[in-house]
Amino acid sequence: AAGTGVRAAGGVPLGGAIQAEFMEVDPGYKQAFLDHCDLIMPMNGLKFSLVHPAPGQWNFEPADRVVDFALQNDRLSRGTCHVWWGATPDWVERLDTPAAAEAALVDHIERIGDRYKGRLTGWDVVNEVIANDPATEGPLRQTVWLDKLGPKHIPIAFAASARADPQARLVINDYDLEFVGPRFDARREIMLGIVRQLQDGNVPVHSVGMQGHLYAGRQIDREGLERFHKELDRLGVGLMVTELDIIDWETPPSNAAQDETAYGLVSDLLDAIFAWKPPQAVTVWGITDRYSWVPDVLPRPDGHPDRPLPLDRDLRPKPWLELL
Ligand code: XIL
Repeated sequence: AAGTGVRAAGGVPLGGAIQAEFMEVDPGYKQAFLDHCDLIMPMNGLKFSLVHPAPGQWNFEPADRVVDFALQNDRLSRGTCHVWWGATPDWVERLDTPAAAEAALVDHIERIGDRYKGRLTGWDVVNEVIANDPATEGPLRQTVWLDKLGPKHIPIAFAASARADPQARLVINDYDLEFVGPRFDARREIMLGIVRQLQDGNVPVHSVGMQGHLYAGRQIDREGLERFHKELDRLGVGLMVTELDIIDWETPPSNAAQDETAYGLVSDLLDAIFAWKPPQAVTVWGITDRYSWVPDVLPRPDGHPDRPLPLDRDLRPKPWLELL
């Protein structure tokens, strides 16, 4: 995607999250990341329950395969994620004292951070800690980690990540930060509040990751995002897009309509971010419609095929790839 896009505009790396399980069985899939990405990261292999399924049991193989592939091909790589409600193993859920939970979290982060030190540009340290709807549940999401340790699990995780890999760029990552509406305003404010609290406690945090799961039928908040980006910048914190893809429910069931919607959403998002300054990276959550979490978790209600990613099922680029 040379030309006018993200990378051409600001030298911003274009990332892609790859599913290790398809790399060897689908050479076209693997090649597509080399064709399009400056950064190639494991989509799932470094999530807690996959890499550390039982106490003392580590499964580094799938993540290693991706990180080695990236580095051998002179690409960057990144890690996701230490704290996420969606990948907490049973053994962590069973830990029955705060001290045991804290020890498990710190040990996990130190071990894994040290192992990948120097090979990853950084980490999503915590993922999705903000309540889905702050008005009714907020401000933080109810999770195993919140339950066991309270809000301090966030600084604990960042401090351990900094000790384990002092060069790593430490990211707080979340979804639904991009759109117009009170729920999204509230989520951005909570994000800024967490960043300020970390800083007030002298705990390093380097970037906010906006997942960028973009929904047809929602509007990108141009002014809101510019203000958000400016405030982060004032705090010395960067902004990146970490999981870009399209959930095109509210679009007529036609490839052309879906692709036009995607083009509009991605271009509005990038315009809003670039209005203040370039993001630190933009990463797509997969590369081809062949493999995506969207049809599994958020499928179109009408049964028409989802088109979440910049390459279609036949690895043909869609128009919105030129924006990247
Ligand atoms: C998803 C992956 O895409 C799936 O392959 C996996 O089975 C579950 O996780 N928000 C996130 C990501 O932060 O980690 C999720 O990824 C998608 C939603």
